[in-house]
Amino acid sequence: MARESESGLPIEPVYGPDALEGRDTAERIGAPGAYPFTRGVYPTMYTGRPWTMRQYAGFGTAVESNARYRQLIEHGTAGLSVAFDLPTQMGHDSDAPLAHGEVGKVGVAIDSIDDMRVLFDGIPLDKVSTSMTINAPAALLLLLYQLVAEEQGVPADRLTGTIQNDVLKEYIARGTYIFPPKPSLRLVADIFKYCKAEIPRWNMISISGYHMAEAGATPAQEIAFTLADGIEYVRTAVAAGMDVDDFAPRLSFFFVARTTILEEVAKFRAARRIWARLMREEFGARDPKSQMLRFHTQTAGVQLTAQQPEVNLVRVAVQGLAAVFGGTQSLHTNSFDEAIALPTDKSARLALRTQQVLAHETDVTATVDPFAGSYVIERMTDDLEAAILALMGRVEELGGAVDAIEHGFQKNEIERSAYRIAQETDAGERVVVGVNRFTLDEEEPYEPLRVDPAIERQQAQRLARLRAERDQGAVDAALSALKKAAESETENVLYPMREALRARATVGEVCNALRDVWGAYVPRDVF
Ligand code: 3HC
Repeated sequence: MARESESGLPIEPVYGPDALEGRDTAERIGAPGAYPFTRGVYPTMYTGRPWTMRQYAGFGTAVESNARYRQLIEHGTAGLSVAFDLPTQMGHDSDAPLAHGEVGKVGVAIDSIDDMRVLFDGIPLDKVSTSMTINAPAALLLLLYQLVAEEQGVPADRLTGTIQNDVLKEYIARGTYIFPPKPSLRLVADIFKYCKAEIPRWNMISISGYHMAEAGATPAQEIAFTLADGIEYVRTAVAAGMDVDDFAPRLSFFFVARTTILEEVAKFRAARRIWARLMREEFGARDPKSQMLRFHTQTAGVQLTAQQPEVNLVRVAVQGLAAVFGGTQSLHTNSFDEAIALPTDKSARLALRTQQVLAHETDVTATVDPFAGSYVIERMTDDLEAAILALMGRVEELGGAVDAIEHGFQKNEIERSAYRIAQETDAGERVVVGVNRFTLDEEEPYEPLRVDPAIERQQAQRLARLRAERDQGAVDAALSALKKAAESETENVLYPMREALRARATVGEVCNALRDVWGAYVPRDVF
């Protein structure tokens, strides 16, 4: 009897040649590094260069996070990935009333260029590539990065990295939005133009399905809603006057890897094929780089358990393997204690070691896309492609990603899936080792990492010092220039924003200036 995949598609007990009968398999599979990129974006993939081991990290103040980054680099990580605390992600300073209790908790607190300087102290920004998980205030953090690099003597055209900058999925699944969709999309277009002109090697967006998956999306939903968001960004940039080949090579994506290896591999392959076809056929992209879906993967945090946490090491290894078989460009493997607290030094190191075992002790880097031609994988890739396209069609029927968000469509679909998963787990139909099967009577004690609550006071003192020292007249002038640019429909806000940040305006002040002009987003309740 067929089993159901996570996307609700059948997985047959046995597949043979008939599973692919009547399909133009050669055209659908293609060659690695060639359209439609089913087999991966580079011809040599990991035989040429392994994926980037990029561990998401950051907590407390810039000093603590800087120490963690240096440690990760020393242990062999190839790229940095900065986690910001919630106030920074929401565009509030550490001393704002709304920030209380959250400073430095889920990431590092960055209030101004002073903090950014400390965060990258001693880290050569011409040698590392840095991803920053920041969305509504993405422009600010990118500019702060550029300003700090400038101080290090590194010109902007040498900088490599990624800002998440994917505000649409914030409305769907993650929640750190500030402005309404229209000005948010205008800001995205300004960022694209700025990067093209000033920081050409920067990946200016990481269009993310990961958080939808964490909220309960199936693999098909994860890809469909993410690619639909991608379409919205492409349309926005084209409407703002950009040529598709001027920005599409620097679009990137971010997905989850679950323990269900076969479906995940098929998912990544289907996503690449759909995106390549869309970009070429619908948007007329000619540059092959515009057609390549390059992506980062994080192993599924939602599948980790607080019970018997060491079992998570095994889950993460399996999930990481799925990402690598799927051809990821960059990977974060979760720490085994992530379901409980922030990772300790030791668990963060173990997570990185997991990737190093995959890269150096297995043979998965020896050959490209080892699953190609497998009856089951090719069939699952085709089936998923069809399911994803059908869902994307429903988003289009509603008028595209933004209108579908306003209808609550993606959120409702995801919530329905989450509910189904919870029901199956409660009923024991979905086995979760250590939770509903193979449990222990008594869990072993575990000492998590705790963030020092004094950090909030320290950040507030730093801010008070900064406000006393800086040239307030220059800050005020810079902020009113920024507001003027925001009011005009044509001026790129990033240039006056950069000058405000250089004059030591804070993240909160810059975001408040934009809130004054653009307003704040209030979600509509949809039942
Ligand atoms: N042959 C030829 N060239 C190759 C190659 C090969 N086999 N492999 C790599 N290369 C080249 C590439 O062309 C590239 O050069 P270029 O920049 O000049 O084009 C260079 O080597 C680097 O390779 P990649 O671009 O493949 O890898 P990167 O690591 O630099 O970039 C990415 C990967 C996906 C494009 C990028 O966007 C990225 O790093 N994303 C990371 C996103 C991230 O870390 N997000 C964290 C989110 S956590 C979060 O959201 C928190 C929460 O709430 C869970």
